[in-house]
Amino acid sequence: MTALVLPDIRWFPSWAATVEDFGDEFLHGAGAWNLAHPLEPTEECCEEFIAVLAECSTADPAVQVVAGSGRVASTYFWITAGDGGPDDEVIGFLNLRHELNDWLLQEGGHIGYSVRPARRRRGHATRALALGVHRAGELGIERVLVTCDTGNVASAGTIEAGGGVFEDERNDKRRYWIPAPI
Ligand SMILES: CC(C)(COP(=O)(O)OP(=O)(O)OC[C@H]1O[C@@H](n2cnc3c(N)ncnc32)[C@H](O)[C@@H]1OP(=O)(O)O)[C@@H](O)C(=O)NCCC(=O)NCCS
Repeated sequence: MTALVLPDIRWFPSWAATVEDFGDEFLHGAGAWNLAHPLEPTEECCEEFIAVLAECSTADPAVQVVAGSGRVASTYFWITAGDGGPDDEVIGFLNLRHELNDWLLQEGGHIGYSVRPARRRRGHATRALALGVHRAGELGIERVLVTCDTGNVASAGTIEAGGGVFEDERNDKRRYWIPAPI
């Protein structure tokens, strides 16, 4: 089981454990750059982070836009280990970009994600990516671009497990397309 949930303070304990587990590692798909300081595993920081993400959202809570930045609309999800219910726990992050600007088309792709170190190699990223692709289909995106650094065997394995069809390498990024169910 793996689920995608929207950021909410009720996930604070496992969110904090996840942030702590990442340590200095970059949190792909978390959108931590929206904060003026590094994420800290405190309730205050979690509340601030959720508020910052909410600030850039549209009337639809599932659609979050960084207004005026030139960035495309995107949705931030937190990956959970179970069914997304009350007893579930956050174990990672996934960002779904609703369209591709030139940089995303060349390098960034539609979806970025990460799973906390302690919970890797259990299929969570593969299942989260599939869920993200499904969400993309709901937005009318027919083909989802997912990329990874050329040396990132874990991410390449995840994308390939998710049905990614390799197109090419650009600027040390491997680029794959996954058809989305519309
Ligand atoms: C990439 C990442 C999200 C994978 O998460 P995960 O939950 O461990 O992935 P999965 O368990 O779904 O693994 C899927 C497949 O990828 C491959 N894979 C995953 N981790 C691997 C590793 N460390 N070495 C080699 N292959 C790996 C395997 O083929 C694996 O299938 P298997 O376990 O059945 O052999 C995780 O390693 C991570 O968060 N890394 C740092 C952030 C990052 O690189 N994000 C991607 C940015 S493009």
